[in-house]
Order: sequence, then structure tokens, then C-alpha cells
Amino acid sequence: MTAEPAGVARSAADRATIRGRRQWPLPRQADPDAPLLVVEGLTTHFRLGGATVHAVDDVSFTLEDGEALGIAGESGCGKTTTALSLVRLLPSNAEVVGGSVRLFGIDLRTKSDNALRRYRWREISIIFQGAMNALNPVRRVGDQVAEPLIERLGLSKAAAMTRAGELLDMVGIPKGRARAYPHELSGGMRQRAMIAMALACDPAVVIGDEPTTALDVMVQAQILELLETLRERLGLSLILITHDLSVIAETCDRVMVMYAGRVAEEGPVGTVFATPRHPYTQMLLRAFPDVHAGRRDLGTIPGTPPDLRKPPPGCRFHPRCPVAMDVCRTVTPPEVTFCDRVRVACHLYPPGSDGAPRPLPPARAGAGAALPRASAAPPEEGAS
Ligand SMILES: Nc1ncnc2c1ncn2[C@@H]1O[C@H](COP(=O)(O)OP(=O)(O)OP(=O)(O)O)[C@@H](O)[C@H]1O
Ligand code: SF4
Ligand SMILES: [Mg+2]
Repeated sequence: MTAEPAGVARSAADRATIRGRRQWPLPRQADPDAPLLVVEGLTTHFRLGGATVHAVDDVSFTLEDGEALGIAGESGCGKTTTALSLVRLLPSNAEVVGGSVRLFGIDLRTKSDNALRRYRWREISIIFQGAMNALNPVRRVGDQVAEPLIERLGLSKAAAMTRAGELLDMVGIPKGRARAYPHELSGGMRQRAMIAMALACDPAVVIGDEPTTALDVMVQAQILELLETLRERLGLSLILITHDLSVIAETCDRVMVMYAGRVAEEGPVGTVFATPRHPYTQMLLRAFPDVHAGRRDLGTIPGTPPDLRKPPPGCRFHPRCPVAMDVCRTVTPPEVTFCDRVRVACHLYPPGSDGAPRPLPPARAGAGAALPRASAAPPEEGAS
């Protein structure tokens, strides 16, 4: 086992090339040599009645220049809250209570709400799911794309409209359609308009939160292709949140699988999908159809994700894990990074172990029956 920072190490030359394409200089406090985005120990709670929802708990990841990170996991596991916490675009009952978010080395966590506004849209922008709801129905799409250019970059109305036309053109919407209202555009066109808005200020990081979920498969493919092309052309750094593992497989460099507000496994897409280590990742992949595999029954993940007002102690997956051990019920598994840059939080892979994937028994995987208990030396709480 080797402890290495997760992520694709881009060369200084790559980084300089991508940063050189920016239309605007880096923020003044930026460290030009710092990684693009480093998130450490991010913890976000919601207040709900008298209870606390532990939505995001000690989540860490990095994003390098030009890299695409996919975030996967069942509904309610904290994908959206993680993304929104980066720039604190959260509902009023939410609070980021711990961790750090460093963009170009600048800690956004310590910024006041007012100071953070400079980073929203301009450095980190979000393509929301369901463009019809995210776009203002009574404003022309061209005006909406122009708005961040006027508000955030101080462009004149005329200059912003010209740039909005160029942006719409870049995402495949003819300039003339800038005068259309959202309801006059197809679902795919509206999502393209959202992408144009997200790109308007030439942000360092674009977050796509289920950007294709509401679209039919043909349009989904077109939108993903568009994101790919833009990534290549603009050197975009992308965080892509999706339930669709095949989208991550095709689009992303790395994948982070979340379960109940925590990171279960994270690493290069090819490695994690070919040899998943965490039982949850294995079950998630088995529950997903693979067009390249032969005919097989899809697995299911028995049970339901926990109520995050009262998450289970120890490993949050233990009530559903077919190979749970006694230690799993009481001790939080430490995150351990192996030499193939895969990070796993599971007692099957304790610090110092060789990290060799331990597949679930095929006949029982996903069936939900209690499997024979595996044995592993319980690691120390908090060790890594
Ligand atoms: N406004 C809110 N108030 C209270 N709890 C919330 C609120 N929004 C989300 N949560 C809770 O926070 C947890 C994480 O939610 P989040 O929306 O981040 O999950 P998600 O992974 O994005 O789910 P989905 O795939 O359904 O979009 C869930 O338990 C959810 O119920
Ligand atoms: S083996 Fe234990 S630590 Fe690993 S996923 Fe199952 S319950 Fe969690
Ligand atoms: Mg979500």
C-alpha cells in the first residue's frame, strides 16, 4: 500500500496550457502552482425540525486542470450537496460545518458570502438538472446567457449580447434563436442554453448536476458529446454528477462513489469500473446493465439508504453490506489510497493491506442474503 494523493497528476506544462486559455487572469490571491481544486474533509449539515441531517461527512477529493470527475451514488447520498457546498449555493437550512475548499490554493471556505460571489459563475459554475426549471420562463434565452456577463464581468449590454450569441453558437444554438423564450426551445436546446450560461464567464470548474437526466437518450448523447468537445477545446475541468455509470465511464477520468454522505471509493474510472473494491461499488456496478457483457441478471442492492438524521455508526453501509464484519458496526473505516491511485473506505482494505480487490461471491452478490462473514483485522479508528 502506498499513500499517494488521489487524482491525475498533470504536468506543469499541461496546467500552464490550460490556464493560458483562460480569458481572464487568475484571481489575485491565486497560487499559479497550486492544484485547481482541493476539497478536504468537507462536512455539510441541514437543520430539519429539531434534527441535523448529516448530508456530507468528511468528503475529500481533488480536481486537476482539464480533468473530469464523475460523482455517483444512490439518490440522497449527498452528490448535489457536495457540489453546492463548494460555492455555498445551499438552501438556507444548510451549513458547511467543516473542511476546506481550495481553488487555485485560495480557501473558499473562509470567504464571506459577499466575497464568494466573485467565484460563483465566474470560477465555478453549475449546469442544473431540468433546464426548464432553471431558466427563467419569461426572459429570452439570449438575455439570460448575457446576464452573468453583465453582472459578473461588467460587460456592456451590447458586448454581452454579442458574446451570448457566440456562446449559443458554440453550443449549437443558431444566433437567431437567442430571442426565443425557453418554452420555444426543445429540451435539448434548453439544456444547451444552460451550458452556454455556465460557460459564459469562462469558469475554471463546471459542475454538471444530472445535466442529461431529463432528456431522451439521443439528446443525452448529443449533450454529452458537446460537453466532451467543449472540454477538449476549452480545457474545461468538469465535475459530473449522474446516476448513470455509463455516462461516467464514457466521459470522466476519475469516479467518486458516494454512500450516505461519505466517499466509498474514488479513483481512475478504468480501474474502479474494471476492479471495484468497495462492496457498495461492486453492487452498484452489478445493478447496472452493461451492453458489452453477455446476458446476465442484474443485481439489486437490498434495503434502502439510511436516514441521514441518524446515520448508522461505523461504516454507514453496514446494514446493507453482505460481508459486514463486527468491526464495521462500530468503527468508521479509514480511507486508504493504494498505488493504483484508488482510495477506498472499507475494513476489507485496512491500512497496510495489499489492496487486492475482494469480489463478492457471485451467486449471492446483490441478493441481499447474509453471506459468510469475512475476517479482517480491525484497523485502528482514524488510521490512514
Ligand atoms: N433542503 C434540505 N433540507 C433537509 N435535508 C435535505 C435538503 N436537501 C437535501 N437534504 C438531504 O440531504 C441528503 C443529501 O441530499 P442530496 O440532494 O445532496 O443527494 P443527491 O445525492 O444529490 O440525491 P439525488 O440523486 O436524488 O439528486 C439527503 O438525505 C437529503 O434528504
Ligand atoms: S465490509 Fe464493512 S466496511 Fe466494508 S463496506 Fe461492508 S460494512 Fe462497510
Ligand atoms: Mg442531486
